Amino acid sequence: MSIVVWVDGSFVEPRERALSALDHGVTVGDGIFETCAVYGGQAFALTRHLRRLGRSAAGMGLPAPDEARIRDGVAQVLAAAGESAGRLRITVTGGFGPMGSGRDDGEETIVIAAGPASPGPTSRAVRSPWVRNERSAVAGLKTTSYAENVVALADAVARGGDEAILANTVGDLCEGTGANVLVEVGGELVTPPLSSGCLAGITRELLLEWAAEDGLPVREATLPFSVLDRLVPGPDGGASSGLGLALAGSVRNIQPVVSLDGVAVRAGELSLAARELFDRRRREHMDP
Ligand SMILES: Cc1ncc(COP(=O)(O)O)c(C=O)c1O
Repeated sequence: MSIVVWVDGSFVEPRERALSALDHGVTVGDGIFETCAVYGGQAFALTRHLRRLGRSAAGMGLPAPDEARIRDGVAQVLAAAGESAGRLRITVTGGFGPMGSGRDDGEETIVIAAGPASPGPTSRAVRSPWVRNERSAVAGLKTTSYAENVVALADAVARGGDEAILANTVGDLCEGTGANVLVEVGGELVTPPLSSGCLAGITRELLLEWAAEDGLPVREATLPFSVLDRLVPGPDGGASSGLGLALAGSVRNIQPVVSLDGVAVRAGELSLAARELFDRRRREHMDP
């Protein structure tokens, strides 16, 4: 399928120039966004994504996005995209603005786009040399200032991976460039707390809720980044048994990691069980 794009109420061609060159989202990354999976022409967990969009706007000091307008745009875009769309992106920026970081009272720009997606069932992760700043002014916000993620992901891809895993500034495990992480350790799947600086992922949040209901041991806890050393074989030849790593994110859902820094690692049993649980539960409700 091709990509369908809607900007402030009108459909535009994917490569058409449709924003002001001085849109503050373009000049300084002053914007927020959401990405949802799309199944059968409907956006998954749209209400939770719109709630987080509102939280990101508040955290950025941007006006609350016009939810009714966004829902209307989403319906139009998904209707035009048809059944084969796999992902939906909602971007809201500060609109036309000054050339520097200062803001004036520009009117928000809303861009909604739908396109294909073909997530793999597993992931090849690479440990990133860079860190997430858990004390950043925009920590935990889904802003369009994603340049750090672009660079970290490009580095991971250059090293044969499809996602980068980042520590935070104090050396704890944080997240990926577009995914939360879960480590299978001590018979539990453990995901870093939001205080690590990671995004409050919707997939992570749903997995925590569904796992609690289904009796799968998944919880939040701080882990040192060095926990990942135990995944790959050491000088004695064997990686610690019972350890595994998984990613959680919209579109990819839960992906057990099968290679770390180019070294094969086993997909953990709990990671596989979490993937199965998520796939089963997400089919029960489009907007849990
Ligand atoms: C930095 C970052 N962390 C985590 C996630 C996962 O969040 P979600 O499950 O809401 O897609 C994303 C999503 O793209 C992300 O960009």
